[in-house]
Amino acid sequence: MPVTDAPLNGHALLDFNSPLSDATAYDLIGGLRLGAGATVVDYGCGWAELLLRAVEHEPGARGLGVDSDDYAIDRGRANAEARGLTSRVTLERADVTTWRTEPADVAISIGSSHAWGGTKQALEALHARLRPGGTLLLGDGFWERPPNAKSVEIFGEEEFGTLAELVDLAMTCGYRLLNLATATLAEWDAFESRWCAARELWLLEHPDHPEADEVRKVVDDHRDGWLTGYRGHLGFAYLTLARP
Ligand SMILES: C[S@@+](CC[C@H](N)C(=O)[O-])C[C@H]1O[C@@H](n2cnc3c(N)ncnc32)[C@H](O)[C@@H]1O
Repeated sequence: MPVTDAPLNGHALLDFNSPLSDATAYDLIGGLRLGAGATVVDYGCGWAELLLRAVEHEPGARGLGVDSDDYAIDRGRANAEARGLTSRVTLERADVTTWRTEPADVAISIGSSHAWGGTKQALEALHARLRPGGTLLLGDGFWERPPNAKSVEIFGEEEFGTLAELVDLAMTCGYRLLNLATATLAEWDAFESRWCAARELWLLEHPDHPEADEVRKVVDDHRDGWLTGYRGHLGFAYLTLARP
């Protein structure tokens, strides 16, 4: 039976769709070397919260964000409008691999490498989408500690390397490292907790909903994978990279 009366928005409690605190976001934006007139393009922007904050930080900058998710783009556009940014921010629903614009001063790709087929492909594609001297902020996973069996079950054997391997890969793709930040355990716990809590709060309000059992199973499986699997094993790095 189609259910339309109580849609679940599983991302409602998240500010960013990655393990990222306000303080780290602020630091990362400070490292983007945004000048007046700079163009920032966020590939796989989600609802573009980091892009909006970057453009708010530098009032002369212009932002473009691309994501294939209708809901995310609608949320981002509503936020841009509410914050008076529509004259400087454009968000488009498109596939990042086929969408094209002029090479940017700053490119952002956080948690979106899979859109290009993996981290190496993302680094190569974004290199061509940056002007020489530009900056890439790449957010990507790595194994902080070797994956346990549950982590391998969730993410597979080949998905991530070590942090050193991630940075080396960026170097071999023609970048230089300007800054490295990694998500703290507190940032991870906040991210995973909020992801689960959106569903738990929905279940409290809709205990007899026809989809309640399914949602309860999704959140139970997710919490189990997080707490018995990748918590403390999976890392997330934010590399600020220069394209010489
Ligand atoms: C983990 S989310 C990260 C979103 C955002 N960068 C953030 O940190 O909040 C990954 C995003 O990539 C988007 N995505 C995946 N494949 C894509 C593609 N081929 N083209 C455009 N967006 C894509 C998804 O819709 C999703 O919003």
